[in-house]
Amino acid sequence: MLSAESAALVKATLPAVAGALDEITARFYAAMFRDRPELLDGMFNRGNQASGDQRRALAGSIAGFATALLADPGARPDALLARIAHKHTAVGVTEDQYTIVHKYLFGAIAGVLGAAVTPEVAAAWDEVYWLMAGALIAQEARIYREAGVAPGEIWRPWTVAERREETPDVVSFLLRPADGRPAPAAKAGQYVSVRTRMPDGVHQLRQYSLSGDLGGDLRRITVKRVTGTDGGPDGEVSELLHGTVRPGDELTLSAPFGDVVLDESDTPLVLASAGIGCTPMVGMLARLAATGSTRPVLVLHADGSPDEHALRTETRELTGRLPGARSVFWYDRPGTAEPDARVGLMDLDGLDVPADATVYLCGPLPFMRAIRTRLLRRGVPPRNIRYEVFGPDLWLPDTTA
Ligand SMILES: Cc1cc2nc3c(=O)[nH]c(=O)nc-3n(C[C@H](O)[C@H](O)[C@H](O)COP(=O)(O)OP(=O)(O)OC[C@H]3O[C@@H](n4cnc5c(N)ncnc54)[C@H](O)[C@@H]3O)c2cc1C
Ligand code: HEM
Repeated sequence: MLSAESAALVKATLPAVAGALDEITARFYAAMFRDRPELLDGMFNRGNQASGDQRRALAGSIAGFATALLADPGARPDALLARIAHKHTAVGVTEDQYTIVHKYLFGAIAGVLGAAVTPEVAAAWDEVYWLMAGALIAQEARIYREAGVAPGEIWRPWTVAERREETPDVVSFLLRPADGRPAPAAKAGQYVSVRTRMPDGVHQLRQYSLSGDLGGDLRRITVKRVTGTDGGPDGEVSELLHGTVRPGDELTLSAPFGDVVLDESDTPLVLASAGIGCTPMVGMLARLAATGSTRPVLVLHADGSPDEHALRTETRELTGRLPGARSVFWYDRPGTAEPDARVGLMDLDGLDVPADATVYLCGPLPFMRAIRTRLLRRGVPPRNIRYEVFGPDLWLPDTTA
């Protein structure tokens, strides 16, 4: 609970802090990685550092949390914290590291805002930080417990049992535990982190959704090769996985994490994806098929063309096994492989979306924004719309406000 004195000071300084958050977080990461380079090796994603997305996600979450506390001093914006807590457990964050982050973050705040940060102002923001940290630490402890792992001890070796070329740009890896222990249970929609050693010796983590329910100890991830655009470099981990990983090789995977999971009610479902955003949806669809679900399910997917649509045949086949399911695809270049497909961007015209549906979205942000707006207009309440972002979530403060 934020004290009344601190609330007044946070309110008075929020515009200044929020306005300087970009500079504050840039300084924070620079100083922390200078002193603690081990965090950049094997924990932080250097692609997200280079693009500034991680910095913006951190800044947005702090401003969002402070704003929520000012509206209600006892607030715990669950969606905001759950997303971060799951990401933190998926990279192995531990409680002691909150003290390190605190040190560098507050050093950066003082450095950027200078004399405006009186001891009272610093103490008020300290309270915000530790309320947020305390809530995250508690959620992370629960998530580690539920995953059956000790805090930070998330890694296990897996063997690549099979490699499948899904499309010219997408490859699936079927994996089996290499340590003889059973595969950990996963909820449909969850992801794992893959830990790779890059050619320069630095370890990098990336998350990949579990893209199927293969039964037994087999797990599958489906990876799209990221090609650099506008002069940017090619994606380093996806390139490495595409270029070098073959059956029999070993990969290091985290336990499964992620809060965007298939709910277990019997309400109608809408699974709407674009591009490689199909992966968690196919995971959910497979779980529905494996459990003989009779829920009404609308499977919607948009892609460049049928040839680029990863797991397309499987999506059709799984939909066909569910008595209440129907699928509709949209392509920019439809071709002949999917005669019933629609042309262009996904719309919801002519589709019956029940107002009590639970909706899962996954794809590029502009796609998810457009579909969410249409769903809200159709009367679907915001709390029923769940989404997964394949990068730092820059949308969260807007959708939880
Ligand atoms: C929860 C979650 C689930 C996911 N599930 C999947 C999935 O199922 N399948 C899938 O394929 N992906 C998935 N992703 C995305 C995946 O984790 C990676 O982000 C993706 O594979 C790209 O990683 P990379 O290392 O290849 O690219 P990176 O090297 O991280 O590059 C990413 C982008 O940043 C740009 N960039 C990098 N460095 C610089 C620089 N110095 N200057 C300018 N631009 C730069 C690159 O050009 C590229 O466009 C998921 C992500 C999340 C968070
Ligand atoms: C109150 C303190 C903290 C806040 C508010 C915070 C906030 C965030 C946010 C918003 C994200 C992005 C989540 C997403 O993907 O959408 C994130 C990711 C991450 N956080 Fe934190 N965090 C905090 C503490 C820590 C600590 C103590 C560590 C450990 C050193 C840490 C390490 C990371 C890492 C490694 C990622 C993933 C980065 C990436 O993949 O680019 N965070 N955090």
